[in-house]
Amino acid sequence: MAPLFSAPSARRGMNLGNALDAPADAAHALAPRERYLDAIRDAGFDTVRLPVAWSAHAAPTAPYTVRRAFAERVDRAVDAALARGLTTIVNVHHYHELHEDPEAHAERFLALWRQIAPRYADRDPALLHFELLNEPRAALTPERWNVLLARALAVVRESNPDRTVLVGPAEMNDLRALPRLELPDDDHLTATIHYYAPFPFTHQGAHWVEGSAPWLGTSWGADADRGDADRVAAERAAVSDDLAEAAAWAKAHGVPLFLGEFGAYERADLDSRARWTAHVRREAERLGIGWAYWEFGTDFGAFDPATDTWREPLRRALVPDGR
Ligand code: BGC
Repeated sequence: MAPLFSAPSARRGMNLGNALDAPADAAHALAPRERYLDAIRDAGFDTVRLPVAWSAHAAPTAPYTVRRAFAERVDRAVDAALARGLTTIVNVHHYHELHEDPEAHAERFLALWRQIAPRYADRDPALLHFELLNEPRAALTPERWNVLLARALAVVRESNPDRTVLVGPAEMNDLRALPRLELPDDDHLTATIHYYAPFPFTHQGAHWVEGSAPWLGTSWGADADRGDADRVAAERAAVSDDLAEAAAWAKAHGVPLFLGEFGAYERADLDSRARWTAHVRREAERLGIGWAYWEFGTDFGAFDPATDTWREPLRRALVPDGR
């Protein structure tokens, strides 16, 4: 299959998650330190996705001004990533009110892009990418999202005519919602999906997922006993089939595809996490899909900030050969 990479440089990425997207009361917030960007680049990643909770730092009323100190914090992270030659994806993350009440928040969402897009208009279009919105969902249905994304893209294009813009389908960027995503006619769009299946494995014990406690102990791809082979083969095939379905949609629509998040929560066993991560990553690469692991240094962390070292099984699963 022809490569679908959004850019030759956006192949192997890391989400610097729970940092600029962290809610003020987050137990797990991570500072976007420059040495983390060094660690990401030195390990062999070429891309960093920077989720940003712009809406949590913007005024509630028009013109919805983003607080300057926060915007400057984002600037520093963006420029530090770009200075390291990392392809950098900036998005609008955790805009929960928009998902719940799209009508009340549409203008505010567009006003955010009216501020973000010109702010970075002079950054290298080959390296800095925008992503319109993380995981549209709830009342932001596929139909409403199709209308809103076209409006947001038009706002971005006023100041950034050639920049790559990533757009994911509604229903939390689920690949099954790709068929309902309508992309405007634009030569610089990349579709993006998130992949967390099987969910009871990747989100076992996740405190934000109701009913996930009984999933604890779910392994993936474990071939301990004779007789496991069929189950393991089926687990692997399910992932491969899902990603192939997404790649086929992208090919049919002539649009590059990016897997912007995939990962397994820290309460799953590390061997299973490493097996699943390696399999998703390999399948994505085989299909020509660029990817970014969720996430660097908190509860899905491939890196342990307490010791400043990679969790080797996860690092090997992602970037086995380094640079
Ligand atoms: C959310 C995180 C969450 C992750 C996995 C991300 O999009 O921002 O809070 O941990 O998905 O569920």
